[in-house]
Amino acid sequence: MKENLTINLKNTSGFVSHEEVVALAQQSVRHLDALNAGTGTGNDFLGWLSLPDDILQQLDKIEKTARHLRSVTDTTVVIGIGGSYLGARAVIEALSHSFSPLLKSTHHDIIFAGQNICEDYMADLLEILDGRNYSIIAISKSGTTTEPAIAFRILKDHLEKKIGKPLAADRIIAITDEKRGALRSMAETNGYETFVIPDNVGGRYSVLTPVGLLPIAISGLDIRAIVKGAKAMEELTRRNKNASANPSLLYAAARNLLLQGGKQIEIMVGFTPKLHFMAEWWKQLYGESEGKDGKGIFPASVDMTTDLHSLGQYIQDGQRILFETMVSVKSPAKKLTIPLEKDDSDQLNYIAGKRLSEVNHNAELGTAMAHNDGSVPIINITIPQLDEFYTGQMIYFFEIACAISGYILDVNPFDQPGVEAYKKNMFALLNKPGFEEAAKKIKERLK
Ligand code: PA5
Repeated sequence: MKENLTINLKNTSGFVSHEEVVALAQQSVRHLDALNAGTGTGNDFLGWLSLPDDILQQLDKIEKTARHLRSVTDTTVVIGIGGSYLGARAVIEALSHSFSPLLKSTHHDIIFAGQNICEDYMADLLEILDGRNYSIIAISKSGTTTEPAIAFRILKDHLEKKIGKPLAADRIIAITDEKRGALRSMAETNGYETFVIPDNVGGRYSVLTPVGLLPIAISGLDIRAIVKGAKAMEELTRRNKNASANPSLLYAAARNLLLQGGKQIEIMVGFTPKLHFMAEWWKQLYGESEGKDGKGIFPASVDMTTDLHSLGQYIQDGQRILFETMVSVKSPAKKLTIPLEKDDSDQLNYIAGKRLSEVNHNAELGTAMAHNDGSVPIINITIPQLDEFYTGQMIYFFEIACAISGYILDVNPFDQPGVEAYKKNMFALLNKPGFEEAAKKIKERLK
């Protein structure tokens, strides 16, 4: 049997006692019960809980489409924002070659668009796509989100001009609501292949639907292993009422107790750049799920050891309102040792012959100790290796812990009312039909 992701709370013990954490975790079993029974807030968005089983029937179709796109194109542009973007990017960046775009071979490039409205980004992308044979995956649950809709309009136009409308239609896939939204109508009018985002799965909980799995499969990764990892984590957490043996209950309880003790900011810390986008995904998951009604822990992230030479100073010595969630990977996939140099001109012979991972591991231990000494509690999460199985475990682990944590905070972890505020202003400023009154008011404010 494979090992599971583990949680270690040793580095929080100077701030909250293990007994307190276990007690709150045990009390939080009621939140797990509410999730399973569908009796908590936001209960129409609980489809993600059983995705490790429910998605199995779609894997053949996802893999078939991925094979098709890989065989007819060399690049796929994945359009989406927020939950329709970050999960796929997190997994692809975690598991792909660090320099994928520079690899020649039979590599298939994945490029992301629609996650900003930057003119230069899009113009640069079009320049690259002029010379590429590419396909497009447009992802939007609502089918109406402005950023991906603009990107899709521009890219569809580019692709249709480049290869003609009928062939473009074969290379455009839409992932959206079953019935509603502009993307659904466009797919039907133009005959695009489609995948459905289930009604009961919110954007940021949708990595294990075609939203995440299709781009991941196109990148060449094994989506079945991801789902297996998620299933193993579901088995460990979803119905496990023994709080001390349920990492999702322990994590949710520990971070809430730290918040109650004045630690308002949680920093996800990784010691490999490969986890950078996993932290971005996690920030969205926790930020959108918990940050409401004047509550929530502010999720931030750093890449170590890079940021030890930047934000490290603040973490060590700034305002004492921080705690860290350190994600460690036990074994790297590759092996590299530091060479011995005869004259030791750089004075590094004391680590000659050591693997880089050993040096990195000691940097990690040293950092944890220093931060702990500087009053920063640390929740340690460890996975044996960074592969498909363990990214699946991480996804399910952080999702279920987030839902429990939201219930501990007494917020609805499945809505995001705050996202609407900027949209209303932007639509009014752009004179979108229907926003005439708001436009008048907002333009007054600009005077
Ligand atoms: O988690 C969420 O629900 C959001 O982040 C959405 O995923 C994001 O706003 C994109 O929405 P849509 O998929 O409707 O384009």
